[in-house]
Amino acid sequence: MIQNLMINKNNTIIAPSILSADFSNLLKDISIIEKAGAKWLHIDVMDGHFVPNITIGPDVIKDIRKKTKLFFDVHLMIEKPEKYWREFLKAGADLITFHSEVKCNKLNLIRAMKKSGLKVGISIKPKTNMAKIKNLLPLLDLILVMTVEPGFGGQKFMSRMMPKVKKLKELIDKNKLRCSIEIDGGVNKETAKIAKNSGANILVAGNSIFSSKNSSVAFKEIQNSVSKPR
Ligand code: DX5
Ligand code: ZN
Repeated sequence: MIQNLMINKNNTIIAPSILSADFSNLLKDISIIEKAGAKWLHIDVMDGHFVPNITIGPDVIKDIRKKTKLFFDVHLMIEKPEKYWREFLKAGADLITFHSEVKCNKLNLIRAMKKSGLKVGISIKPKTNMAKIKNLLPLLDLILVMTVEPGFGGQKFMSRMMPKVKKLKELIDKNKLRCSIEIDGGVNKETAKIAKNSGANILVAGNSIFSSKNSSVAFKEIQNSVSKPR
């Protein structure tokens, strides 16, 4: 665990997603975005059950943990987070987000994760109503609003999720909560601005960074697009 970067609602963080990186040369891609100024790395874990795709597990995370100080933002798209989260903690996760749609005792899971020192997030799929997680907000470091159906990189940003983000932001501010809002899916230098202006402060971007000709330039362009005044 690194936790070298505390989450601050007032900073906009770009979290590159390694889903679109070159899995045969992960370290190269990670070092490019680290040198470009990234502080976070978004790591998508898929089990082939919760979503129709399979990615990486704790062993890969453990090995890349030894090579970088980036903050590990681990997004679990798995059916049984309660069974596996400790493996991801041991592997070096700083923050673990699990999905609100899984069947488990979410309150107990959040409490156990927090007790271990982890930062904790909950994610909602596009069709999931935020009312489902409203009561959990005071306990969370982050709420992840999916702006694509989870499972694959390179999909189109769903701008119709922005009212959800705005409502969450109002709720968080009204109740003076420390919870950040992260969005994930279809982020590029244009949609990043839309998401930021709606109230999101952590923006995950995979395809627009790692599938571009120059990942360093692509990262910086997204960062610049949200650091300019509105
Ligand atoms: C999708 C993943 C995302 C994905 C985003 O299920 O959770 O993190 O990497 O990729 P882009 O930015 O390509 O939409
Ligand atoms: Zn993700």
